[in-house]
Formats: sequence, C-alpha cells, structure tokens
Amino acid sequence: QNEIYSAGINGIVPKYPFDYVSLERAGSEVLPWWVLSYVAGGAGDEQTQRANVAAFRKYGIVPRMLNGAYERDLSISLFGIDLPTPLFMCPIGVIGLCALDFHGDVQIAKAAALTGVPMVASTLMMDPMEEVASHFGDTPGFFQLYTPRDRDLAASFVARAERSGFKAIVITLDTWTTGWRPRDLNTGNLPELRGYCLENYFTDDIFLRRLDRSPKEDLNAARLEWLKIWGNSLQWEDLDWLRSLTKLPLLLKGICHPDDVRRARDHGIDGIYCSNHGGRQANGGLPALDVLPEVVEAAGDMPVLFDSGIRSGSDAAKAIAMGATAVGIGRPYAYALAVGGTDGVVHYLRSALAELDLLMAIDGFPTLRDLAAAEVRAV
Ligand code: FNR
Repeated sequence: QNEIYSAGINGIVPKYPFDYVSLERAGSEVLPWWVLSYVAGGAGDEQTQRANVAAFRKYGIVPRMLNGAYERDLSISLFGIDLPTPLFMCPIGVIGLCALDFHGDVQIAKAAALTGVPMVASTLMMDPMEEVASHFGDTPGFFQLYTPRDRDLAASFVARAERSGFKAIVITLDTWTTGWRPRDLNTGNLPELRGYCLENYFTDDIFLRRLDRSPKEDLNAARLEWLKIWGNSLQWEDLDWLRSLTKLPLLLKGICHPDDVRRARDHGIDGIYCSNHGGRQANGGLPALDVLPEVVEAAGDMPVLFDSGIRSGSDAAKAIAMGATAVGIGRPYAYALAVGGTDGVVHYLRSALAELDLLMAIDGFPTLRDLAAAEVRAV
C-alpha cells in the first residue's frame, strides 16, 4: 500500500486495477469473445454463479479491538506442508487460452513461485504437467484429477503427478460430464477441443497407445478418442481404487453435504474441497458459502478447502471465519492473466493478500486461528 501511494506522489499510476470489477472489465476487453464466454459463463441462467458471489454480502465479521494485531501471521499448515498464506489458485482447465502465448499454465506456475500461493493444476493443462511443475520453485503444487474412464490412464496421471513433485491430488467429482452452459452452446465451442489444449493427454504414453496415429498426424482422431475416455462417473467404491494409487494426500472437490464428508473420511480421504464449481456445472443450487459451515462441522479435523465466489481479500476472510482452512481464487486470476500474464496474476494475489492482512490488522485478528474464531453474523 505504502509503495503504491508513495509512487502516486510522483505521478505514477498503477498498471493494473485493484478492484475486481475493473479487473474483470479489463480482462473482458482483451480476451477473444469465445474464450470470454468460456471463462465468464456458467450453467443455465447462471443463478447459482451469481448467488455464489452475492452470498458474501449476506454475512459480516464482528471486529475485536486491542488484540495485538500490530503484526499478523497469515501462514497455515496443510497436510504437514507450511504455506505462507491461506490462498491457493483453483484448477482452471485450458487456462492457457487466457495467455497471449497460450502457455498460461506455466505463467500461473511462475506466479505461484513468486507469491507462495499454490497452483492446483488442472488435468486440462495446455502444457504437460512435468513442464508446469518445473516452474513451481519452492511453492508446493497440487494436481487436480479429472478421472478418465480408462483406469490405466488415471493411474498414469497420478503417477506422473507424483513423479513431477505435486504434493496432493484433488479429485473433482462434479464434472464427469460438462454442464449445460448456454454461453458456450451459443458459440458452439468447447475450448478443450481447440488445437493442442489436451497436451497433458497427448504426452501420456497410455493415451497415445490408444491411437493409431499421433495427435500431430491426426488431431481430430485424438480429440474423438479423448471425448470417449473423458469422464468417469465415480462411485464411492472407486475411491478405494484411487486411494490405492498413491500415498499423497487425496482431496475430494465438489463436496457440499455433511454426509458426503463423513463418507469421504471412511474411504481414507485426507481433505475436503467444498465448491460448486463456481456455478458452471449445475444451476439452481445453493451458494457454496451457505453450505460451508455444515461441511466444516462434519469435517472435524480434516482440512476444508473452499471456492466459488471469492473475489477479494475480505471474501477470503469471511470464508476463513466460517471455517475454511484455505481459500481458492478462480475466475479473478484468469482475468488477471489475460490482463498482465504472470505479472498481472502476482498483482492480483498480492492485492487480495494485502486486503486480507489489513482486515486482520484493523479488525483485531493477529492470526488465522483468531480469524477462524471470529464471530460472523448474517446481515
Ligand atoms: C473452472 N473450474 C475447474 N475446476 C476443476 O476442478 N477443474 C477444471 O479444469 C476447472 N476448469 C475451470 C475453467 C474455468 C474457466 C473456470 C472459471 C472454472 C472450477 C474452479 O476450480 C473453481 O471451482 C471455480 O472457478 C470457483 O468459482 P469462481 O470463484 O471462479 O466463480
């Protein structure tokens, strides 16, 4: 903050916006229209997507004074890994399309290295996961698995993730088939099927074995093969098989019901990721924030990651005060990447963290443990 205001004395205007509305506007202006509909759009008439964001206006944190918050500690520990902040970057498939050079995954990985904010890298990376992981620096990375129908391919993805140094596997449960997304349907465009968006598959020996000719020789055949193996509608029993593939911590993404939290624990799952996919998959559901407290209660000592609707540092503070262990930034970093590449993403993350830190300073919460214990009231 001081840096920005002192530069301002000398007439230096900041390069990127500090509020989400301006960032979204700036991102929307530079993204090609069909990428914008993919990033901005959601399921149905997007009621759930809007409700996710609006839910943050329904709750407020009650401040505490004289609490020694002159210095703050924003660090957390997740599966024994120390992280400097409670933020992470949600998995965003084919995020490369938001970058000028299409290597958005690498640019995000570099932002993770610079900020200490981990990237949860999607199976739908546009760069091979080995390449992406090589840019993490000292920041741990997590791999998000879209479980293919081919079990050998699933096992291969997990093994590659482990070999590349990813520190946890996030299994997304709500996207074994693509939701009803009118904006994408209107453009007739599923970005995954554009060019080399499926690089992570196209560099996998198990996937390549399924093809008669390499994707370079016959891209269409490779895309059709991908459509065939894409989504596996998992059952609870399948978790035992997934559990047997790795010793890395396993998280389930898309859990919104306390009974599902308890069943996850019974199947040896290590962490819960409460999310409704930003309202992109099913419309008409509750905002994710509204189900968070029940999920947290059922989780007991299991960590609960949260996303869907976080736009700012104060949104993150509310999610933490409502029980989230770590908080996922989604769409905002896609716009930040479009506006300024790695630099833009670093700017956005630092801004969100600065806002969170200042809120803790002003509202009297020296640590995240104090913030987690804060009183939250419905507005
Ligand atoms: C996503 N999300 C997502 N989730 C996932 O598990 N794997 C993926 O590949 C993707 N891909 C993806 C693409 C785009 C363009 C968006 C916006 C989102 C969902 C993502 O991880 C997260 O749950 C939502 O982004 C949270 O909602 P908000 O806060 O971004 O609105």
